[in-house]
Amino acid sequence: MTGQRSTAQGGPAAWWRDAVIYQIYVRSFADGDGDGVGDLAGIRSRLPYLAGLGVDAVWITPWFDSPMADGGYDVADFRAIAPLFGTLAEAEALIGEAHDLGLRVILDIVPNHTSDRHRWFAAARDAGPGSPERARYWFRPGRGPGGEDPPNDWRSVFGGPAWTRLVGVDGAPEEWYLHLFAPEQPDLNWSHPQVRAEFESILRFWFDRGVDGFRVDVAHGLAKDPELPDLGAGPGGAPAPLVKPIEGEQGGGRDLAGRDLANHPHWDREEVHEVYRAWRRVADSYAPTPGGARMFVAEAWRVRPGGLARYLRADELDTAFNFDLARRPWRAGELRRGVQEHLAALRGVRATPTWVLSSHDLTRHVTRYGRTEGGVDVELGRRRARAAALLVLALPGSVYVYQGEELGLAEVEDLPEEALRDPMWRRSGGVLRGRDGCRVPLPWSAGGPALGFGAGAPWLPQPPEWAGLSVAVQDGDPDSTLRLYRSALRLRRSRPEFRRGELCWVDSPEGVLAFDRGAGLRCVVNLSPAPCPLPAGRRVLLSSGPVAAGVLPSDTAAWLAPAPAGDAPGGEPARL
Ligand code: GLC
Repeated sequence: MTGQRSTAQGGPAAWWRDAVIYQIYVRSFADGDGDGVGDLAGIRSRLPYLAGLGVDAVWITPWFDSPMADGGYDVADFRAIAPLFGTLAEAEALIGEAHDLGLRVILDIVPNHTSDRHRWFAAARDAGPGSPERARYWFRPGRGPGGEDPPNDWRSVFGGPAWTRLVGVDGAPEEWYLHLFAPEQPDLNWSHPQVRAEFESILRFWFDRGVDGFRVDVAHGLAKDPELPDLGAGPGGAPAPLVKPIEGEQGGGRDLAGRDLANHPHWDREEVHEVYRAWRRVADSYAPTPGGARMFVAEAWRVRPGGLARYLRADELDTAFNFDLARRPWRAGELRRGVQEHLAALRGVRATPTWVLSSHDLTRHVTRYGRTEGGVDVELGRRRARAAALLVLALPGSVYVYQGEELGLAEVEDLPEEALRDPMWRRSGGVLRGRDGCRVPLPWSAGGPALGFGAGAPWLPQPPEWAGLSVAVQDGDPDSTLRLYRSALRLRRSRPEFRRGELCWVDSPEGVLAFDRGAGLRCVVNLSPAPCPLPAGRRVLLSSGPVAAGVLPSDTAAWLAPAPAGDAPGGEPARL
């Protein structure tokens, strides 16, 4: 069947243009079988919760068969479900049940690399140097007299060299293979036609099962300069630093060591775009689901300035994560600039903006916003995080909500070292603790062995104070963060301004952000230390904290609507 796309990116009314998409990190969402690890049974049991929360779609991080060297981003078989998580029949049932509840399903495709346990890599290992099996990856002899030095100087995002040397069955060292991430994640060679054909077939496999779209992992990394040239030292001769790979940074035109991304040998190369044009054709060969075509969202965080828009041309991907806002501090000018720059960057391609505050790769924003000189003030961070939620949910475009964000969870920064699982911890020699702190299993109830996450001890320990932040507790508290998200999502769905109203900044005092969405909605966020008067003639639809006597306290946001004629003016004369 052939789907018709009347205009760029799925048409102006495509469902994902203003969707709220909930990110499920499978291992940590809900554990159905009691082994301490989240799974498909757990997700299925909590789908009604997500429908009740009011999100439009779920993005499920990789659920494919995997030895779990990088939490499932090391895929051994893209057409099978990891036994730890469930079965293909359960996945099919989950997709159907989500659809019945009105939730769309986005899967996470990982095209840059496979697991080292993938059948292709096993075949490549066995087949030996120069074989066609090795041509699907990047194998090269080492440098130096005995080949003991890596083929070039590229660095793994997780630390250390981006090359690992194979050892033959006889114990003799042989060729090296490339892995921009962990050694268990060998990079595929995307100039190989079999690699391209295989991924198009994988897309079809899942589209045939009804999925509504894909998140594209490391979308900017697929193409490599076939000459594999050295990168050379970064500016000032510095070697590539070890950094947390995705601190919310869009890239700023530089790689990890600060080198220019123009003609970079492995990030954001022009050749990747042909891959996405082919994927677009695959997606468009399916009849649109009600409300629009199947969609792709790119994870592209090392791109040239303005480069994101290139991924979003009409015949490529539909949307891309905008990590920029998550990088910015809690300051009005910074956030306003972030919003404006993202809107301006996408204007040329008519792509929909996206807003991300947290993810499975980022430090949770309660903690980021709560950092003070004296440590983390979680209450302050949570107050700001609640205000930030009303900010992003009032912006035009789609919003990604990372699981637990709706509970106001903070990063768990004191996990015991023996509990840490992120490959970054080991690869950095214990220098970087990695991303486990944002991946701690969710608290669903105030009691039980794992706060309702499951019957067994959770794979990462939960802080005891999370009992008070559990879904069950917050459900019963009208002032909770969960109830705030529910109310916000309900309003966002019911009022057309959120979909159609143009964003118009309104003059506001220093440290205060204020904008209208059409005539019917104003969002005001007070990032200043002083309370700020709310404008008269408007009523508060929703606020992230208590608002009394027409005054918006510090670190609080409010959504306002025009008050019906005859209403008592709210607070002081209009200043916003
Ligand atoms: C992406 C994922 C991250 C993973 C990496 C390698 O950046 O978000 O979690 O470690 O890709 O697949």
